[in-house]
Amino acid sequence: MSELKVFTTVKEMQAYAAAQKQAGKTIGLCPTMGALHEGHMTLMRAARQACDIVIASVFVNPVQFGPNEDYDKYPRQFEADCAKLAAEGVDAVFHPEPAEMYPDGYGTYITVENGITDVLCGARRPGHFRGVATVVTKLMNITRADKAFFGQKDAQQVAVVRRFVADLNLPVEVVMVPICREASGLARSSRNAYMSEAEKQAALVLSRSLRAAKEAYAGGERQAAALKAAVQQVLATEPLARVDYVDLYTYPALQVTDSVSEPCLLAIAVYIGQTRLIDNIILGE
Ligand code: PAJ
Repeated sequence: MSELKVFTTVKEMQAYAAAQKQAGKTIGLCPTMGALHEGHMTLMRAARQACDIVIASVFVNPVQFGPNEDYDKYPRQFEADCAKLAAEGVDAVFHPEPAEMYPDGYGTYITVENGITDVLCGARRPGHFRGVATVVTKLMNITRADKAFFGQKDAQQVAVVRRFVADLNLPVEVVMVPICREASGLARSSRNAYMSEAEKQAALVLSRSLRAAKEAYAGGERQAAALKAAVQQVLATEPLARVDYVDLYTYPALQVTDSVSEPCLLAIAVYIGQTRLIDNIILGE
C-alpha cells in the first residue's frame, strides 16, 4: 500500500490527478469536512472497491454555513483524519485553506433552482446547498473524478448533487452509500461529538422514530400523513428532542406527495439540546 499523499494547493492536486489520468487510472472522490468517523469510512471503502485511485477531501467549506451556524466550532482534527484515511488505503487527501478555494475576487456559485433546495434542510439553511454545490463542483473539477461518493445520511445533498451533475453535464457518476449507524441505531455524524452522554442517549429517538414509520409501512400504511404521525409520536416521547421537521417527499425529485407510491424520502431534523441532527429512510424502493 502506498502512503497517503497530502495536497493543500489546487495546483498540486490537479497535477496529481492529471498524472493519474495520464496513466489510465480511474479516480474516486469522497468529499468530507473532516472529523472522520465510520460513516465517512464507508464512502472510502466503496470508492476503494470501485476506483483505481481514491481521493478524499477534508475541507470545512465556509460557504455552506449560515451566519449563526457552527462553522467556527466545527471539529477540526486533520492529523487523526489522515491516520484513518491511510488505514483505509486512501491514496491522497486534498486539504486546502479557505483562501485557496475562494481567493480574493472569487465570484462564481452554483445554484439548483428547480425547487429541490427549497424544502427540508434547504428551507432551514438558506444558501447551504449553494455552498455545497459550489464546493463539490470545484472538487470534482480539481480532482478529475470519474465517480464521487456521498452518504444517504444527507439524502437531499445527494439529490442536489445528482441534479447539478446532470444539468451541467459533468462527467462524474454520483454514488450514494447507505447510512452507517452505531449499534444503538444512531446515525454516525461529526456533530455527535457535540453531545453529552445523556444527549446521545436521547438522540436514539431519531432512529427509533424512523423505525416506527418503517414498521407502519411494512404493515401496509402508505399515507404520508400517517407515516409522519408515526414518527412525530415517537419523537414526542423524548423531552430533550425539539423537532425541526418531519417530512416526506418523493425521491430524488423531492416533490410533495400524499402517499408512497414511488420511492419516497422520509426525513427528519431534530435538535437534541443545541445539536441539530438529521436522519432519514427511503420507503417504497
Ligand atoms: P460531511 O458532513 O463531512 O460528510 C461527508 C460525506 O460523508 C457526505 O457524503 C455524508 O453524507 C457522508 N456521511 C456522513 N455521515 C454518514 C453516515 N453516518 N453514513 C453514511 N455516510 C455518511 O456532507 C458534507 O460533509 C459536505 O456537505 C460536503 C459534501 C463535503 C461538501 O462540503
